[in-house]
Amino acid sequence: MKIVVAKNVYKSFPQKSGHNLVVLKDINLTINKGEFVTLIGPSGCGKSTMLNIIAGLILPDKGRVLVNGKKVTSPGKDRVMVFQEGALFPWLTVLDNVMFGLKTNNIDNQTAYKRALEQLKAVHLHKFKDAYPHQLSGGMKQRVAIARALVMNPQILLMDEPFGALDEQTRLILHRELLEIWLKTRKTIVFVTHNIREAVKLSDRVIVFGIHPGRILKEFKISIPHPRPRGNQHLIKIENQILKILQQEVEKHMKIMGGKFGK
Ligand SMILES: Nc1ncnc2c1ncn2[C@@H]1O[C@H](COP(=O)(O)OP(=O)(O)OP(=O)(O)O)[C@@H](O)[C@H]1O
Ligand SMILES: [Mg+2]
Repeated sequence: MKIVVAKNVYKSFPQKSGHNLVVLKDINLTINKGEFVTLIGPSGCGKSTMLNIIAGLILPDKGRVLVNGKKVTSPGKDRVMVFQEGALFPWLTVLDNVMFGLKTNNIDNQTAYKRALEQLKAVHLHKFKDAYPHQLSGGMKQRVAIARALVMNPQILLMDEPFGALDEQTRLILHRELLEIWLKTRKTIVFVTHNIREAVKLSDRVIVFGIHPGRILKEFKISIPHPRPRGNQHLIKIENQILKILQQEVEKHMKIMGGKFGK
């Protein structure tokens, strides 16, 4: 069943130079309920912009995004975003950070406490409930950010390079935890990364974006069950195919830029 549908999404931003930069051009995509979809592409290709459009934080110039058949015009409780740097409130404890959204939605204290603690258990952080963000490692902060998003019980989790700032070891642990949660809850996840291995390891489908303008170049469906073994030949083959497409795209782009700025 479809949950997110993007139809001919077009977005440009005015630049300081005066010209309009076309960031996304004719983006058409469909995401099914419970699917884990990753958007991958070079820096500046519009991945965050696309995620923000699905979140309702940015409106497209043309085209539209539908969530459950309804046009997105603003943020909604059905969609929650997790950013690269958890963006926790530094003056609140871990528990209060996770309870924050519930409280602003007028959920009584006792229920909020119970739900927040449950969610912290799911990310193995309940023992740190009284700690403050500055007392946590980067990986722990991201886990709190994930718990804070999940506690709202959204239908769709939007994740913008959530593990981008983590070391490889922590990243692998968080992959496992995120997959555990996803397999249990079957939330729809729209994930953004420029790490090809991460994309192929986690997703049901990887959508490869090109740059200037940001547009969909190719999609890869990956139906290997989890946990996906490192070194799986099929996965490596897909990784290499994605790498090749992205390399060609970046090289093409550099040639164009060279033509513009070179001698
Ligand atoms: N509010 C804005 N005003 C002007 N330009 C913008 C704005 N937001 C994004 N852009 C430009 O749009 C392009 C796409 O940005 P976006 O953040 O979506 O890329 P991205 O694919 O997420 O890149 P990265 O991998 O570096 O995060 C970039 O060239 C960026 O400079
Ligand atoms: Mg981005």
